[in-house]
Parts: sequence; C-alpha cells; structure tokens
Amino acid sequence: MQGSSLLPGLCFLLSFFGAVIPKIKASCNCPPNASCVNNSHCTCNSGYISRSGQTLFTFPLETCNDINECEPPYSVYCGSNAACHNVAGSFHCHCVPGYRLQSGEERFSNSSENTCQDTNSSKTTQGKKEVSAG
Ligand SMILES: *[C@@H]1O[C@H](CO)[C@@H](O)[C@H](O)[C@H]1NC(C)=O
Repeated sequence: MQGSSLLPGLCFLLSFFGAVIPKIKASCNCPPNASCVNNSHCTCNSGYISRSGQTLFTFPLETCNDINECEPPYSVYCGSNAACHNVAGSFHCHCVPGYRLQSGEERFSNSSENTCQDTNSSKTTQGKKEVSAG
C-alpha cells in the first residue's frame, strides 16, 4: 500500500523537476530598477544607485535606490526663481510660485532652460529682465 501510493508521487516529482529545472537558465537576477548587463551582472537603471555603490553587481540582494538629484552631492541647480523636484528615477525643475516659464510649460530639465519670469511683470518686461546666467 505504501509503495503503490509513493510511486505515482515520485513520478510526479521527477517529472515536475524535470520540467522545471531546464527553465532555470543561467540568467541574471536583478533587483527592481536594475537591468542585466550580461547573463550574470546587473546595473542600476539611470537615476538609481546601488546601495553598495557598485556599478556592476551580481548579488541578487543588492538594491537600487532612487538618486535624489536635488540633494547633495548632486544638488541640481535649476536657476533663478526655480526649484528642483526629485521623482523616482529622475527629477525636474519648475518655477517657484509666482513665476512661470515663457513657454507656459511647467517643467524643464536644467538651469540653461530656465525662463522663469514673474507672472505679474511678464507682460511689461517681455523677458528683457535677464537674470545673470549661472
Ligand atoms: C559580465 O560582465 C561583467 C562586467 O563587465 C564581467 O566581469 C563578467 O565577466 C561578465 N560575465 C559574463 C558571463 O560574461
């Protein structure tokens, strides 16, 4: 009785593992916000940094954390009358309240794209009031 009930289970297990094992290829296993560079190494996606600081890693328990570009050591400078806003994997600049981009867009990427101007004086100055760049 024992043997007759054990055998089908054993056959099942063997076929189960036989079916599963070949599917476990030597593929790299990367944490969230990371990608494989080859079949064993991962690297954090842009905008993320590994906890260990390593660019390439194999350890599956490594984590990739969002880089806060708005804080040191990055401290992205968005220019006058603007602020940096960190988001997952990226950041953007926006004008501070009371100011807006000439284009009317809400976001820009860096200080060179900064056209933030006073919403009250924008009609009179027409962008002539250039703030010294940098
Ligand atoms: C994967 O890339 C890393 C870093 O370039 C390298 O050290 C490693 O040998 C590579 N592994 C394979 C299997 O190619």
